[in-house]
Amino acid sequence: MVKKAIVLCAGKGTRLRPLTFTTAKHLIPIANRPILFYSLENIARAGIEEVGIVVSPYNAEEFRKVVGDNPFGLKITYIVQEEPKGLAHAVWVSRDFLGDEDFMMYLGDNLILEDLRKFVEDFERSDYAASILLSPVKDPTRFGVAVMEGDRVVKVVEKPKVPPSNLAIVGLYLFRNRIFEGIENIKPSWRGELEITDAIEYLIEKGEKVKGYIIYGWWKDTGKPDDLLEANRKILMGTNEEILGEVDDKTTIQGAVMIGKNSRVVNSLIRGPVVIGENCLIKDTYVGPYTSIGNNVILESCEIENSIVMDSCSIVGIEKRIDSSILGKGVSVRSSARRPATLSLILGDMSRVEF
Ligand code: G1P
Repeated sequence: MVKKAIVLCAGKGTRLRPLTFTTAKHLIPIANRPILFYSLENIARAGIEEVGIVVSPYNAEEFRKVVGDNPFGLKITYIVQEEPKGLAHAVWVSRDFLGDEDFMMYLGDNLILEDLRKFVEDFERSDYAASILLSPVKDPTRFGVAVMEGDRVVKVVEKPKVPPSNLAIVGLYLFRNRIFEGIENIKPSWRGELEITDAIEYLIEKGEKVKGYIIYGWWKDTGKPDDLLEANRKILMGTNEEILGEVDDKTTIQGAVMIGKNSRVVNSLIRGPVVIGENCLIKDTYVGPYTSIGNNVILESCEIENSIVMDSCSIVGIEKRIDSSILGKGVSVRSSARRPATLSLILGDMSRVEF
């Protein structure tokens, strides 16, 4: 039985700066919940009981605070990977936690909404040394790629220049502890990392059976800003209508909209799917489809859609519609009546503004 999982969350998320200067990429909110929570919930549903979250020395504290010890009934252990030396190295540093048991490995920046129970049960019934989740993709060069014969994987290669198939390795793997033999026998790749793909290839070359489990549903590697917006849209599609806050009679609510406690909506149009957190003020504003608004946010005289606005932001008096935007915590965007009519910007490192 597979009762343990490790979830790899040590990555820095450089492509999501500046958001990741203050928040681990796995904890960025999608529809007002950290991305990682969707994965943990799915892992718990698949029958896993204990999860080792592999963190870096820099983000360990944030994970402890946000995720805690028992989310979704899971028993969480934090495992610190001192240096980012690759996915296989992350498994290696988890060896005390894993012991001799079969285990799941989940890459924390992947959002996989597929029901994982069948994947796990199928592995439990088999004598395979590993089972890896695969998905056909347009650009396999960005991924580990697998070659299949029947349902068996006969070759895996990490980020090939000329891909031998279109089957990408999605960030979810099931292993028996024989994988440790593979990890002990590989060398760092061109990017200086111990690749889990190489450890799997080692097992295949030794004649071990590795299963390829192909999924055709939606999943996302949430490494870039556009990926976050896409994941946000996908999750918001499942929004239920729930209005806990106050909505005045000059406001129109269309479609699936959630409004949290103590939020007030005045003279506005909210067109779902939209989630709005607690203690917000939305006034004389249009909030369009696929927008997530965190807690303690003020939106006044503005228009926004297809965006993520995190806690404690304010957007006031902006003429143009804001679209496809991600605002980190405590961001303020406002117009000023003062002359001269200049643009006045105080932007943190690596901010991006497009007029
Ligand atoms: C890692 C794995 C790769 C896999 C990908 C999935 O790549 O090495 O095999 O296809 O995750 O997201 P990385 O994100 O480290 O470049």
